[in-house]
Amino acid sequence: MSNLRLGVNIDHVATVRNARGGDTPDPVRAAKLAEEAGADGITAHLREDRRHIGDADIDALMDALTVPLNFEMAATPEMQQIALRHKPHAVCIVPEKREERTTEGGLEVAREENALAHYIAPLREAGCRVSIFIAADRRQIDAASRIGAQVIELHTGAYCDAHAEGDFATRDAELEKMRQMSSYAHTLGLEVHAGHGLTYDTVKPVAAFPEVMELNIGHFLIGEAIFRGLPDAIGEMRRLMNEARP
Ligand code: PXP
Repeated sequence: MSNLRLGVNIDHVATVRNARGGDTPDPVRAAKLAEEAGADGITAHLREDRRHIGDADIDALMDALTVPLNFEMAATPEMQQIALRHKPHAVCIVPEKREERTTEGGLEVAREENALAHYIAPLREAGCRVSIFIAADRRQIDAASRIGAQVIELHTGAYCDAHAEGDFATRDAELEKMRQMSSYAHTLGLEVHAGHGLTYDTVKPVAAFPEVMELNIGHFLIGEAIFRGLPDAIGEMRRLMNEARP
């Protein structure tokens, strides 16, 4: 068995539900199915505007899950209170802009170092593993280490976008940056995760990095589930990850 964990992000089950404003499809049902299909964790992002996951979804996920919940959140006082109430296994601090369609870049840790150090301290004290979502940039990694984060999650979006656009020089440069920075972060004692925009076509080179312990994947898997069902979509991702990291 590979030691690389797969966290399945179920945000976009809620996106489809919210398109009609009712109760279906239920993200908790998707999370339970993902668990049965071999997900090692479930990831959910409670955005400030609640455009997909809502507060009641987090309550229900905390009750229903047997695998760990990775709670993605912006560094706001409201989200800190919610996280401290639930004490999920992990919190991943992400940048958030209201007008963006998805999390566009990594967090500027270096610029906000003091504020972030104070922000994450109570979360760590409550027993949450604190992860910081950043670009593969040495300055950000150093800052994440200094503020006391236990985990960094490398933003794979630029690599995946370059692949989709057929810009293979940029894709390979992004991949190389992530390879070097995952190794560097590991030497600082940080646990390394990665995610954003990963697909069957892009997952293997990232999964092959020996320091990467977890991939968080959502949008592509939920889309693929429309055609082949969620267990099969997850099973194929798991198979590719295992191939890259036996
Ligand atoms: N990791 C983080 C920190 C994210 O913000 C997201 C998107 O919510 C993901 C992983 C998953 O990205 P995607 O849905 O594109 O697979």
